[in-house]
Amino acid sequence: MFRMTRYIKTLMNPTPVRAIPKPSGPVVIWNLIRRCNLTCKHCYSISADIDFKGELSTQEVYTVMDDLKAYGVPVLILSGGEPLMRPDIFDISHRAKEMGFYVGLSTNGTLITEDNIDKIKAVGYDYVGISIDGLEKTHDEFRQKKGAFRESMHAVALCKQAGIKVGLRFTLTQDNYPELPAMLEMLDEHDIDKFYLSHLNYSGRGGRNRKRDAWYDMTRDAMTLLFNHCHNELQRGIEREYVTGNNDADGPFLIEWAKEHYPDQVDALTERLTNWGGNSSGVNISNIDNLGTVHPDTFWWDYNLGNVRETPFSEIWSETKDPLMQGFRQHPRPVKGRCAECKFLNICNGNTRVRAYNISRDFWEEDPGCYLTNEEIGVVESMPRRVAAAAIEIPVNNL
Ligand SMILES: C[S@@+](CC[C@H](N)C(=O)[O-])C[C@H]1O[C@@H](n2cnc3c(N)ncnc32)[C@H](O)[C@@H]1O
Ligand code: SF4
Repeated sequence: MFRMTRYIKTLMNPTPVRAIPKPSGPVVIWNLIRRCNLTCKHCYSISADIDFKGELSTQEVYTVMDDLKAYGVPVLILSGGEPLMRPDIFDISHRAKEMGFYVGLSTNGTLITEDNIDKIKAVGYDYVGISIDGLEKTHDEFRQKKGAFRESMHAVALCKQAGIKVGLRFTLTQDNYPELPAMLEMLDEHDIDKFYLSHLNYSGRGGRNRKRDAWYDMTRDAMTLLFNHCHNELQRGIEREYVTGNNDADGPFLIEWAKEHYPDQVDALTERLTNWGGNSSGVNISNIDNLGTVHPDTFWWDYNLGNVRETPFSEIWSETKDPLMQGFRQHPRPVKGRCAECKFLNICNGNTRVRAYNISRDFWEEDPGCYLTNEEIGVVESMPRRVAAAAIEIPVNNL
């Protein structure tokens, strides 16, 4: 995750560059349930409104939580499917809060109503992230449910009224790219605390629909817009949080932006971003799926590290022989192609491996989602991309 606001603030008000303390344990994104009332076109968990057998029971979840706490996991992001479809979601959430975790709820928002907002408030979630993937028509098409936008925006309003920190999560594609400016306007209108731009990852239905990914010029425009918007708000004293995910080229791209706007801060920013260190799947980010299987992050559901029913998470995560995890834990990672030659490898850490893998079947191939030019990354202008073309040569209608 790239905390853009934090870095733009340091450009505007420079502070000494400091090392970032090592976290006590990985963030756990926990897909507690795979069932969902929606069937979004990009969904990595291929969720649907059916019962998925064999999910962890409440008691099993509690046993895992105890292990996570003892292992130093600081943050639980409760996700799905749609986590509010789990009948015990509030029991699990209360227990997590009582145990001292930072607890986020990752929801499509359509099930947040007047009937349960008091229960949601009572948990004391540190953050509720609601997915909004465009304006009404686009969002409803993306999420394949008419009325979803209105329901989710109603949820945003209910959370705000209840005093809950709420963010919009927006997955960028060709279809919603033109609506990004309007989305950013909405943040002000609804006094939203946080905006998370998620780049498309090629897993599950997101992999089948990768032809709809926003390609390089669009992504560059979207990121420039976001940098400018965040900067402009900070200049006006508005401290909204902007973060991005699934494309660690966003860090180096901010350096490109800073060259134009804060040239004397470029070296300090480069040092800060080097300390950040880019992609941290398999290191500071982890995932437990609905069946208790552990993965290097949420997008690696085809790659299993073990199951918490058989082995505690702490043991699975400490295991050192898995080849993918060994690569993840090298810094910089053993990447190939443009990524290997890139002068920013130390900052972005080879970006998003699942995109490279799902196109090339090689964990360490270059990431086809990197939108930086050869000139920017410091490789010869004629160096071809090895996997980008293959990324879009697939049918789009096999949902
Ligand atoms: C799987 S959903 C689960 C929580 C909830 N059902 C929701 O939609 O917000 C978690 C987040 O991942 C995002 N997401 C799903 N598939 C993705 C993909 N292929 N690439 C990037 N983000 C994705 C969703 O938009 C959502 O913000
Ligand atoms: S992205 Fe979320 S709301 Fe959409 S189908 Fe997947 S789990 Fe459900």
